[in-house]
Amino acid sequence: MKLDDHGVLKMAAMRYEADRPAAAHPIKIQDLSFRDGHQSIFATRGRTEDMIYVAEQMDKVGFHSLEMWGGATFDAMHRFLNEDPWERIRALKKYIKKTPFSMLLRGQNLVGYRNYSDDVVEAFVQRACDNGIDIFRVFDALNDFRNFETAEKIIRKNRKHFQGAICYTLTEPRMGGETYNIDYYLEKAAQLEEIGVDSICIKDMAGLIAPYDAYNLIRALKQNVRVPIHLHTHFTSGMGDLSLFKAIEAGIDIIDTCMSPYAYRTAHPAVEPLVVALLGTNRDTGFDIRLLSEIADEMEKSIPKYKHFLDETRNSIIDINVILHQTPGGMISNLVNQLKQMDALDRLEEVFRALPRVRKDLGEIPLVTPTSQIVGIQTVNNVLFDEKEGDYSKITEQVKDLCYGLYGRTTKPISPHVMKKALQGYARGEDPITVRPGNVLEPELPRIREEVKDLARNLDDELIVALYPVTGKRFLKWKYGLEKVPDDVHPKTMEDVEREKEIIEKAISGRLTLKASPASKPASLRSFDVYVDGEYFNVEIADSRETGLSVSGLTGKKKESADMAVSGTLTAPIPGMVIEYRKKTGDVVNVGDTVVVLEAMKMFNNLSAPCGGIIKEIPFKAGDSVAKGDILCYIEKR
Ligand code: CO
Repeated sequence: MKLDDHGVLKMAAMRYEADRPAAAHPIKIQDLSFRDGHQSIFATRGRTEDMIYVAEQMDKVGFHSLEMWGGATFDAMHRFLNEDPWERIRALKKYIKKTPFSMLLRGQNLVGYRNYSDDVVEAFVQRACDNGIDIFRVFDALNDFRNFETAEKIIRKNRKHFQGAICYTLTEPRMGGETYNIDYYLEKAAQLEEIGVDSICIKDMAGLIAPYDAYNLIRALKQNVRVPIHLHTHFTSGMGDLSLFKAIEAGIDIIDTCMSPYAYRTAHPAVEPLVVALLGTNRDTGFDIRLLSEIADEMEKSIPKYKHFLDETRNSIIDINVILHQTPGGMISNLVNQLKQMDALDRLEEVFRALPRVRKDLGEIPLVTPTSQIVGIQTVNNVLFDEKEGDYSKITEQVKDLCYGLYGRTTKPISPHVMKKALQGYARGEDPITVRPGNVLEPELPRIREEVKDLARNLDDELIVALYPVTGKRFLKWKYGLEKVPDDVHPKTMEDVEREKEIIEKAISGRLTLKASPASKPASLRSFDVYVDGEYFNVEIADSRETGLSVSGLTGKKKESADMAVSGTLTAPIPGMVIEYRKKTGDVVNVGDTVVVLEAMKMFNNLSAPCGGIIKEIPFKAGDSVAKGDILCYIEKR
């Protein structure tokens, strides 16, 4: 850009102020510290007690709303913090009486990773309303708004605010084409107005939106749309503040920020500089900067216990990849970690090259949880297992579901070749559906209610299990004292991290001791978090290379080479959690029969028998974590 241009642009901005001297239009601000803020930079480990500590002061600021639930919080709380997610809303509501609560809802995916049946969606949204959520920001990974229908019905019935979000994504720069342009977003916004949303959010979950794109998009929306427009972006690329500022100049109604201790990096622009920058303008927030500073000081006191979640391997707080490749930053780190676990990091460049093709084959869908994982993991499979490009020799269950239409309508049609291959022998049928996915899903609650009747004490409990069948049940056992909470599940403090480090070091240096005494508690676990579009995945790997031991995280079960008359073993190709065994000891299996379903990086992998025979032994059970190479079952040839 020439220097001249700067001058012209600056003039235009000043004129904008001058043109509207009387039309005060204060910018409204939603605070994200209690949800996306700690989700983005502290792996969603924020504890309710640290929110309560500043809750009353936060209520005084005058925020439009506080986003404090949804996204990954539900998962992280019951899985890692041993906290009841429902209780957080009720607890904070006691201290925050004035400011509305908002949550991020993944449409028919709720706060999970697949489409749930309508009865689960209805019950979940109703309980969210009952417990105190006032504003629902609803999005769908495919921007297929039919996936809003069921949630919307309940939100309206309860007279709560229904915000429709449009996932912001870019046209794959290496594939050409103009799929995601302003017309696309205007069309989507028109669809949302048609549905009757109370406001529209541009949800830039990966922090891709550039300042002038934000300006042009928001201006176009303001000219064409009646309901308030809200912008959600991330700081990730370093453009976050600039984009918010241009959006403000374009007339945006509401923006998302964090309190400074929760801001920047992969989180969001901080509120404090914006408040000062807008002082005296027609977009003045009216916030008391001293109050904000007091709250930030209080927040800083609880930050040290989360600090170890920050990526401190690099000094820079911005992610250059997002600027260079416009690929969500988290997606790259996810691929890196996935390949590392498969000892194939040297294939990263290939994966990166193959990615645009796979995305195009799968209907050029937006990349956001869960579609970023679907596209990412399929790409890794193609690179590692295909003999020639385009084979799709190992198609994931999620890609099959996507092809069948279970996630909704893709932006562009899926490649017929992939479609045919994916649906060959697919359990639900070989002809994809065209209706709203919820229409074909059988009610799930009655079965779950029956299944957990001895464990769940109310609907909230049942819903935890409906969303997270394995970890949900485990949480309820902790909650009602039926099972001891493992040490590594308590919220991690700096002391915990130090202790873990010590254990790992000890395990590595004392490998002989460990090998000689199988009874000793295996604890050489490394757990790390992988970010994808501001969501995180916790991956646990056993330090098998250094210790010569392979350890499973939650059960402490040890892998041993079997000294039995077996002719085949099924081993875990990647670390993950056993979701279910489809076969039991004594069952006869044929080559290719699915024996076990393993969840890794939030994707389900059906693992099949490598040979025919009789299942001799199954060393793990549902809920167990397994390391790469762990033997999942022994098969004796008949
Ligand atoms: Co976000």
